[in-house]
Amino acid sequence: MTVTDSPTSEETLANLSTENRRFEPPAELAAHANVTAEAYERAAADRPAFWAEQAERLTWAERWDTVLDDSNPPFYQWFTGGKINAAYNCVDRHVEAGRGDKVAIHWVGEPLDDTRDITYAQLKDEVCQAANALTDLGIAAGDRVAIYMPMIPEAIVAMLACARIGAPHTVVFGGFSADALASRIDDCQAKLVITSDGGYRRGAPAALKPAGDEARTKTDLVEKVLVVRRTGQDLGPSGWDDDVDVWWHDVVGAASTDHTPEAFDAEHPLYVMYTSGSTGKPKGILHTTGGYLVQTSYTHHAVFDLKPETDVYWCTADIGWVTGHSYIVYGPLANGVTQVVYEGTPDAPERGRWWQIIEQYGVTLFYTAPTAIRSFMKQGRDVPDKSDMSSLRILGSVGEPINPEAYIWYRDVIGGAGNNGQGTPIVDTWWQTETGALMISPLPGVTAGKPGSAMTALPGIAADVVDDQGDSVPNGSGGYLVITEPWPSMLRTIWGDRDRYVDTYWKTYADRGYYFAGDGAKKDADGDIWVLGRVDDVMNVSGHRLSTTEIESALVSHPKVAEAAVVGAKDEDTGQAVCAFVILRESAGDGGPEIVQELRGHVRKEIGPIATPRQIMIVAELPKTRSGKIMRRLLRDVAENREVGDVTTLADSSVMSLISQGMSSSSED
Ligand code: WT7
Repeated sequence: MTVTDSPTSEETLANLSTENRRFEPPAELAAHANVTAEAYERAAADRPAFWAEQAERLTWAERWDTVLDDSNPPFYQWFTGGKINAAYNCVDRHVEAGRGDKVAIHWVGEPLDDTRDITYAQLKDEVCQAANALTDLGIAAGDRVAIYMPMIPEAIVAMLACARIGAPHTVVFGGFSADALASRIDDCQAKLVITSDGGYRRGAPAALKPAGDEARTKTDLVEKVLVVRRTGQDLGPSGWDDDVDVWWHDVVGAASTDHTPEAFDAEHPLYVMYTSGSTGKPKGILHTTGGYLVQTSYTHHAVFDLKPETDVYWCTADIGWVTGHSYIVYGPLANGVTQVVYEGTPDAPERGRWWQIIEQYGVTLFYTAPTAIRSFMKQGRDVPDKSDMSSLRILGSVGEPINPEAYIWYRDVIGGAGNNGQGTPIVDTWWQTETGALMISPLPGVTAGKPGSAMTALPGIAADVVDDQGDSVPNGSGGYLVITEPWPSMLRTIWGDRDRYVDTYWKTYADRGYYFAGDGAKKDADGDIWVLGRVDDVMNVSGHRLSTTEIESALVSHPKVAEAAVVGAKDEDTGQAVCAFVILRESAGDGGPEIVQELRGHVRKEIGPIATPRQIMIVAELPKTRSGKIMRRLLRDVAENREVGDVTTLADSSVMSLISQGMSSSSED
């Protein structure tokens, strides 16, 4: 593993040496910022004391005894002895404080004029009803519940209801296939699935329940399926099963709005979120309650400078990803935010939909991904220029490195009118499913932003860039991004696999006790951090992690495929795109004229549309080292149309020319 293997490193390193633009925080914002520069030093002087102070922002049923229990690393525990209910913190306490009439969610359906405003009082009632309904369906604390839903308010209600009764949820992105859902249900042994008939996507209802049913029949674990009626569409061939299926409006609608939240241990499991690793099987990342809520709410308060009385916040992520968990549900709601939640795609029914929503609701804090920004850049500024976005104060970015061009465009075109025309600061937030909450990011009232840099670790967080030995690299050098001290919202383990947790995250720098994040990074002359991308076999497509091995396994499960190698190649729109090199079985002949489409469809079915290869090249051989390891670096060269690099370690020197010939049968669309 070397950093130069990182797909983006060379080019990014070259660019960053010439990037010298700086953006000071607007004076107004700096003057009233929630968090100022003093927080860094105070936190570094006594990290547990700093996090204890942040924990005071929440309402605890019982105070903790110990802030950080580090007696058994890397199995750290936070706020032990403390008891807390996450849903109470996200809902009830705002109502009790007299803010019941405040809008929690401005929900915007994809069809025009299909909207719902939900106050904190209403949200509390519905969460209580759902909690009672889940209990009636036999769900008790500790049981796992799978949620497979579109971006509708009931998805948030379902998550909070699970949290309220201590039943860890596992939300599976609605764009994932039945197989992907089944493997997650199976891994965490979920006994209930909450889904909907469908959701609106690009102007049409898109079914969800049929995939949920297919997944259910692949495991024999699921006892009940709770179904929200969203679109009213036909339920598909699997139809309705009275023994299993229950309508949300029947059972939740009929349930009492009274529900007393139970206080759970700070370390009680809150949820399992699956993410790709460098081996095929997705990892169930376990997050627990107290520390997670402390760090998600604190970082949301600090990095978005949230003023709950006046701000309108919007995070465009799907609740099927960790960003939706931490920065739509738990962090913002714990902070009593008013937020927009949008069901659909950015271009439905027309391209300017997002910007119209910002204007309509007066959004002040906006959080999205570089891949979306690049797609808008391509459409040109005419589209966003039609909307008045002067309400904006802060713009966030997450999911992958934001290239300086996209940063400037985001700042100037989307945020140009913000802060009284002074422009809108960008917070480039680095974190991961595993870290649970933001780790490296500017503070909008403190940091002079640099386009392309996530800047420095937040107060209370200790990050570094180190070499192979774990020694901190000097400013101006590259290396591996590590977290050197435990943090409250850290993953606690991989569900059901403690060894894999230790091996994956803590083995590389075991002697130092560092968490290795899987990313390469560079410290610039000022010591600011530039994240360069993954150094393992993990791709980042549209801000979502996909494992090369997982897609290879999907390809090899096709009867015509003998061997497959997948690489992530640079892509203008999605950051990286999936490129596959496939060797067919002899029995398959040339695979037939439709082979590429067939294989793309197969991956789509096995994993989901997001994993569909942009390109599949049918080849006769794959480049391997003498020990049989596939040389992905060479395949990446081919996929990115570069001159093929050093081939001296190749076992068979003719293979690369064969692959170049094989490219003539490649397909792209
Ligand atoms: C990986 C984590 C965190 C929620 C969304 C993705 C990349 C994320 C940034 C950023 C550069 C970034 C990293 C990281 N990444 N944010 N601001 N700058 N890279 O969560 O699926 O767990 O992916 O996304 O490579 O390791 P995830």
